[in-house]
Amino acid sequence: MNSPIIAVEHLTKRVSDATGTLTILHDISFTLQARESVAIVGASGSGKSTLLGLLAGLDVPTEGTVRLGGEDLFVLDEDARAALRARQLGFVFQSFQLLSNRTALENVMLPLELAGRRDARAAAADMLQRVGLGQRLGHYPKLLSGGEQQRVALARAFVVQPKVLLADEPTGSLDHATGETVMQLMFELNRERGTTLVLVTHDRSIAARCDRQLLIDAGRLVAQGETLQA
Ligand SMILES: Nc1ncnc2c1ncn2[C@@H]1O[C@H](COP(=O)(O)OP(=O)(O)OP(=O)(O)O)[C@@H](O)[C@H]1O
Ligand SMILES: [Mg+2]
Repeated sequence: MNSPIIAVEHLTKRVSDATGTLTILHDISFTLQARESVAIVGASGSGKSTLLGLLAGLDVPTEGTVRLGGEDLFVLDEDARAALRARQLGFVFQSFQLLSNRTALENVMLPLELAGRRDARAAAADMLQRVGLGQRLGHYPKLLSGGEQQRVALARAFVVQPKVLLADEPTGSLDHATGETVMQLMFELNRERGTTLVLVTHDRSIAARCDRQLLIDAGRLVAQGETLQA
């Protein structure tokens, strides 16, 4: 078997305040292979976004490890972790998080510029074409619909060809049809580019389209199985 793209071992996250200690994630272990698509499902407050933040190295665990492409995220210092993240990861959030004072094209160029790519403009324009926004390059986010903004966010995430795309309820603020378009695009890019897709969703039909589902219940991984094909 190939070595996993993501390996999570005994991940635990606790937070403390004056009222006591809360265990948000409890001893979570799993691996993901390259090209897999995985849905993270579970009730509101079960710890899904916290887990995604740890996979991204945006937050640090209380115990346990996350290895990304073999590298242990939490032995790296913050700069090294940020560099690894920039090379390997893309993110899409429910609230698109585009920069409002930059055009669609400029938003997608940003990660390429950070990576020092000289062809940033052309590569960003190609990617926006790919998500069906070739006619919107000069639009600022506020002039784009929600679905269009999410497609810009997808283009921004995919343009650096990340090994892994982490998406936290990417269609949560879109209507059903628009969400479907965005989701379709995400699965197409997952297949075309061989990107591993980790998707937090409350939508059972979307979860069912992933290769596997991880079920989180009150901070514990209670099931991880292949999606049953109907
Ligand atoms: N920094 C923090 N301090 C205290 N509690 C926190 C912190 N971060 C998260 N929590 C709590 O941990 C639990 C899990 O939060 P998380 O955002 O991961 O849930 P979720 O599964 O993504 O929920 P949703 O489906 O509603 O987005 C929640 O009860 C939340 O209140
Ligand atoms: Mg969440």
